[in-house]
Amino acid sequence: MNSVLPATDDTRVWDIWLSMYQVPCLSVALELELFESLDAKPDSAEGLAERRGFNLRGLRALLPMLMQQGLLHLHDGCYQLNETSRTYMLKSSPLFWGGLFSRIAKTQPPHKLLLETVNNQRALAAKTRAADGWESGHVDMAMAREVTAFMHSHSVASAAGMTKTFDFSRTRKVLDVGGGSGCFSIALARLRADIRCTVMELPAICELAQQYIADAGVSAQVDTVVVDMFRQAWPAGYDTHFFSNIFHDWGFETCLDLAQRSHAALPEGGRILLHEMLLDDGGLTPAPAVTFSLLMAMGTLGQQFTYGQLRELLQTAGFRNISCRQTYGYFSIVSAEK
Ligand SMILES: C[S@@+](CC[C@H](N)C(=O)[O-])C[C@H]1O[C@@H](n2cnc3c(N)ncnc32)[C@H](O)[C@@H]1O
Repeated sequence: MNSVLPATDDTRVWDIWLSMYQVPCLSVALELELFESLDAKPDSAEGLAERRGFNLRGLRALLPMLMQQGLLHLHDGCYQLNETSRTYMLKSSPLFWGGLFSRIAKTQPPHKLLLETVNNQRALAAKTRAADGWESGHVDMAMAREVTAFMHSHSVASAAGMTKTFDFSRTRKVLDVGGGSGCFSIALARLRADIRCTVMELPAICELAQQYIADAGVSAQVDTVVVDMFRQAWPAGYDTHFFSNIFHDWGFETCLDLAQRSHAALPEGGRILLHEMLLDDGGLTPAPAVTFSLLMAMGTLGQQFTYGQLRELLQTAGFRNISCRQTYGYFSIVSAEK
């Protein structure tokens, strides 16, 4: 069965999901008195983190969100208040909205998570080992099932979409690194009968992916292999390494490690493809990528990248002929050759 391009892209659904992180940004900024701090002295994320003892990674995710919300301006590299925030977000203002948001904060789990992320209380912020936690390779089946279904939902439309907008004419054998449910491999198998894909994943996720693959009727073209991408040797014999939403889980050094492992395992002329929601240069737009980056700051060691950052990373790992194209909805593919 050939994959069918969805009648409309899923950007509206993304917008609805991501909108739930708008209010926590404001309630956390109010609780931490960020507006008072920036009123006293406009500052960069680095300066504010230093001055107030906040987590820099958390602030780098939060401040662009407040800009997107129209509550801060950026001038000469320093965030500063505007008319809206000066009028409604300062405790000293007779028009202060804080009473409402402090009450809402108590009922919103993302508020607590974001507060801990910015307020330097999270063990995550101090973690230095790349593959700890979920990524230790010991994911129980209940958690794996829940998270895989979650990721399948947000990826399945962009998987079908990318097969219509990206050139896979040279692709024959794909290693789908951290492929989750296998939705990208399934979409590629449906694109052409001569494409073979392998979902490389942790044990519990491989077991689940096999079910998704069987349900899609593409078991003859798509299989799975249990490999911990950080600790075990990668299989050879693939002309394409496909990573969707993998680099955004990790810091720059770990992504470089993944890119180098990929480079080592690919044949000459083989391609690496990074499917990600990209930030514009400067990292302050577009709004969905800024919000997705905030989610990554709260839940992973990663963030969304700009094309420039990924290009630099791939160049450092030894790749050449690097390019980028928007593929479907909010997603793009950055591609490069060995
Ligand atoms: C954000 S999900 C992306 C899933 C899928 N590629 C997508 O875009 O929907 C990250 C995936 O990386 C996998 N992963 C995490 N650590 C891994 C490891 N050490 N080895 C192999 N896969 C790993 C997870 O199991 C998870 O399925």
